[in-house]
Parts: sequence; structure tokens; C-alpha cells
Amino acid sequence: MKIGNLDIEKKLFLAPMAEVTDSSFRKIVKEHGAGVTFTQMVSAQGVINNNFETLRLLSFSRDEKPIGVQVLGNQPEILGEAVKEIIKLKPDLIDINCGCPVDKVVSNNMGSALLEDSKTIGKIVRKMVDSSNGVPISVKLRLGKDKNNINILETARTAEANGASMLFVHARTRADRYETEPNWEWLKKVKEIVGIPIIGNGSIFTPQDAKDMIDLTGCDSVMVARGALGNPFIFDRFNKLINDGVDPGEPSVETVRDALLKQISYMEKEIGEPICIDKAKKHSIWYFRFYPGLDQLLDKVFSLSNLSSIRSLIEEHTQNILKGNFTNTQLSDINIKFKKKVLFWLTEETMEVIG
Ligand SMILES: Cc1cc2nc3c(=O)[nH]c(=O)nc-3n(C[C@H](O)[C@H](O)[C@H](O)COP(=O)(O)O)c2cc1C
Repeated sequence: MKIGNLDIEKKLFLAPMAEVTDSSFRKIVKEHGAGVTFTQMVSAQGVINNNFETLRLLSFSRDEKPIGVQVLGNQPEILGEAVKEIIKLKPDLIDINCGCPVDKVVSNNMGSALLEDSKTIGKIVRKMVDSSNGVPISVKLRLGKDKNNINILETARTAEANGASMLFVHARTRADRYETEPNWEWLKKVKEIVGIPIIGNGSIFTPQDAKDMIDLTGCDSVMVARGALGNPFIFDRFNKLINDGVDPGEPSVETVRDALLKQISYMEKEIGEPICIDKAKKHSIWYFRFYPGLDQLLDKVFSLSNLSSIRSLIEEHTQNILKGNFTNTQLSDINIKFKKKVLFWLTEETMEVIG
């Protein structure tokens, strides 16, 4: 699949995730075979105002490419101006967020609030395309406002008619937020009516899920969000499943430890130890969520106050898993909790930045 400079074969996309898809995580998933990475959403107004925090969230290095930058906004003029600034950074794709269901975003008529106004989506896309000097513009959509107002066919057609190069379709409505099962039927229908690539999204947690979504809906590729948390391995495993027909399966716990420690080192270099500490704790839990002993890890990790003790705990925890010292096997319960809880880990501070 080729879009502008983007040639992503059939590889997976890392979804934009606030507070998660920073430079360290993007590097790790890229090293593990992701086709395209993404920044988290940044405010278009923040870009124009040269807001320091917004610009920090926008920065990326060559080894995170190909990369998409996602913007949040609702005024075509402002989005056009923001795109003129963003293209100076040479991203491979610029995306407009029409999917975020967070109250603070929706009450400002942004994110998934735009789904109710396809005309405005059209104007926004047109302005962004006209300002992008050839950098492809994509749109991240949900199915509609709620089950009684599904208008994905209209928003998808409008985006394409106004010059969008690709669509990400999260197969849930705004009202569904993250709780219900995604409805893949709609991906199939969208694929039938538009000519641009469609990337499916929603509850892809294993390489086989991603392959099934492609096989059953005909979508061109898949975007993974929660399934990639603590699990950069999903990208390589998917590539092997597609290329060799076999998913090599879960990595060893030593491989998990090594990737986590590497990500923490990238993070430390990027943002320094004090800010890194909380992030390192969050990612440690995500990386070990597939293994017994998660409750013990949760008990210990939050009391730690420096990276050296977090690194020691990671090593100690790995050895305990290897020695079979944990008897907790309730992994399915933990993963149900994980799917629901992950969203509550967004801080108020981030909501301020993105809103
Ligand atoms: C922690 C977190 C942060 C997110 N931040 C963003 C964001 O900045 N922009 C966006 O379009 N979607 C965001 N999302 C939504 C995801 O990109 C994705 O559409 C959604 O989680 C469904 O995919 P999944 O079922 O694979 O998690 C976020 C999701 C999570 C879990």
C-alpha cells in the first residue's frame, strides 16, 4: 500500500495514544516491526500559538518514521495554518482526530463531536490538504454519534471527496466509547464505497485478530492501540504471521524484560529521570500484564521513587516469574480490568494540553 511517501506493505499502524505514544514507545514499536507510528493528538491552536508543550509532543526522530502526526481542532482555517507549521517537521502523514470521545474534547466541539457535522469534516480536510504541500492527510473516524446515528458512510465519502488519502475507522460509535465489541460489518461497507485505503481499528489484541480483521473486512491494514501497550511484540508477530503463515507466539519473559528496560532507557534520555519515573511504572505493569505475579508487582512498584529501584524490581520480578514463584493465574480477569482501566490513567494535565 503506497500513500505519498508511505509504503507500509501490510504492516500494522501504532494508534495515537495520549500520554503513551511518546518518542520512546514509538522507537520500541518501530524496532519491533510497526509499519507506521503516531504522535498523540496535539491541539492545532497550540501549534499555531507555538505552545511549548504542544511542540514537545510533536517532535520525533528519524528512527520513529514513517510517522503520522495527529491534530485536534474544529476550525478549517486554524487546521490549515497548523498543517503549514507541521509539514516543516517532515511527517509522513497528518491526521485529523474525529474520534476522541472524552467529554472535555467533545464539549469543545472537537474529536468525535465532528462526526455530527460531515460538512465541517469536509471543509477541514480540504483546508488541510490545500496546506499540506503533498503530505498525505488522513481522518480518524468512529462509526457515528451512537447506534441510532451511524453515518460512517457519509463521513468517509466526504473525507475522500475532499482529498483525504487514507481513513482510520474505529469500528465503534462515540457512545460506545471503548466498552462494546467493535462492529466489523461497517469496515466492510466503508471499504466497498471508497477508493482510498481503509485502516481498521478496535480491540485488536493478537496478531490473529489483526489478520482476521483484514481477511473478513477487506480493510487495507489495522491500527493497534491498547493491544500494543507493554506489547510491542504484536507488530513482529503479525509480520511473521503474514509472511511465514505462523505466529511465533508470546515472547520469553527475558525478551519482555529487555524491551521494557530498553524503553525506560530511551525515556530517561528523552525526558530525564524525574518525569520518567511514573511512566516507567505504568509501562512496567503493562509489559508484565501477561504473566503471573501482577498483583505483587502492583504492590511494590508504586512505592518506588527512582529508576534504579524500578530497574532492580523489574529484574527481581523477571527472576521470580522464571522460578515459578507466583501462583496467580487469573490472567483473564487482569486483562478484562486492563481493557477498562487503561483509560483512567490519563491525567488531568494531559486533558488540558489536548483540549
Ligand atoms: C490511553 C489511550 C490514549 C488515546 N489517545 C488517543 C489520541 O490521542 N488520539 C486518538 O485518535 N485516539 C486516541 N485513543 C484511541 C485509540 O487510538 C484507538 O482508537 C482506540 O483505543 C481503539 O483501539 P483499541 O481497541 O486497539 O484500543 C487513545 C486510546 C487509549 C487507550
